[in-house]
Amino acid sequence: MAERNWVKFEFPSDTRNVAFARTAVALFASQLDWTLDELEDIKVAVSEAVSNSIIHGYQLGAGIVRVEVEYEGSKLTIVVEDYGQGIPDVAQAQETGFTTIPEERMGLGFTFMHEYMDEVLVSSEVQKGTKVILIKEVPQRPEG
Ligand SMILES: Nc1ncnc2c1ncn2[C@@H]1O[C@H](COP(=O)(O)OP(=O)(O)O)[C@@H](O)[C@H]1O
Ligand SMILES: [Mg+2]
Repeated sequence: MAERNWVKFEFPSDTRNVAFARTAVALFASQLDWTLDELEDIKVAVSEAVSNSIIHGYQLGAGIVRVEVEYEGSKLTIVVEDYGQGIPDVAQAQETGFTTIPEERMGLGFTFMHEYMDEVLVSSEVQKGTKVILIKEVPQRPEG
């Protein structure tokens, strides 16, 4: 069982910072015993959440994106938060294929997050911002 540990960071809303956030979270998360595939899945989920804050939350304009990562035991929790335009209907936003930019986007970001993480919790308030909590536990592995 790993003792609790955490990091927090924030950065300006800029697509250049997506790769930083994804890699920083994976580097921290690698203190736990993931397979490479699981770490890739975590990276995809973080990319999707951070991209959403930049593209949708701030509509590619100025703003701050905040990321918190922590684990306790085998459970990893990642929080991605923005203070942008918010989501009027969080259930609809998470439907596969739903997007508010149909000319450009596929509406699969939340679907990937749900696919790759154990739990995805979305809370949002219009004109206040959005918080996405991504949770994943290291699976039990056969010993040997
Ligand atoms: N951080 C956010 N702020 C505001 N709206 C968001 C945010 N994240 C997601 N959304 C809304 O949820 C929709 C679905 O997101 P997603 O599944 O990632 O698909 P896509 O990014 O391809 O549109 C987006 O089109 C957008 O309307
Ligand atoms: Mg998206």
